[in-house]
Amino acid sequence: MAIEYTLAMVKPDAVSKGSTWHIIQDIASSGLKPVAVRMTRLSKEQAKTFYAVHAGKKFFEGLTDFMSSGPIVALVLEGESAIPKYRELMGSTDSKKAAPGTLRQKFGTDVSQNAVHGSDSPENVRREAGFFFSGTELAVLGISIDAIGATVPPAAPSAPAAPAATPANPVKR
Ligand code: CDP
Ligand code: MG
Repeated sequence: MAIEYTLAMVKPDAVSKGSTWHIIQDIASSGLKPVAVRMTRLSKEQAKTFYAVHAGKKFFEGLTDFMSSGPIVALVLEGESAIPKYRELMGSTDSKKAAPGTLRQKFGTDVSQNAVHGSDSPENVRREAGFFFSGTELAVLGISIDAIGATVPPAAPSAPAAPAATPANPVKR
């Protein structure tokens, strides 16, 4: 069993509808655990940086206007196979086509106003988590910056307390 982290975001449409806590409840029910949370608002420039991979696409202006239109909630989620697991929970990009029960089907509207974001690769988890949380903040929360974007082995089970060292055949002098 390998623990992984992913970066999730509740987008402005869902925050403004008051869906944030319903979304977090669905996330928790899926077995993923929020381990860092921040509510903030992206400027247009920050939205452009966050979605730089889509620069030049026809939806880029609308996307960055939308993402800077109101508050968002960013979360680091922890769990087994968190990246693909959360992508599955979100559903497909277009809320109209997303499978029943997925976050985008339940809380989004269409291909642009689709309620939630989720990282799609370990490299992007690192980049996107770093966008919202400093290494120091994550460390305070018990998340190693080295573990973000990486699959980390679970902590070794704690060993039983070692008995007081007693030589098997104490030598009598
Ligand atoms: O978010 P996801 O990874 O599923 O999709 P994407 O292809 O990386 O697109 C990023 C975001 O751009 C989407 O979540 C939508 O909000 C927006 N988008 C849009 O407004 N119109 C499209 N035709 C495609 C994406
Ligand atoms: Mg994407």
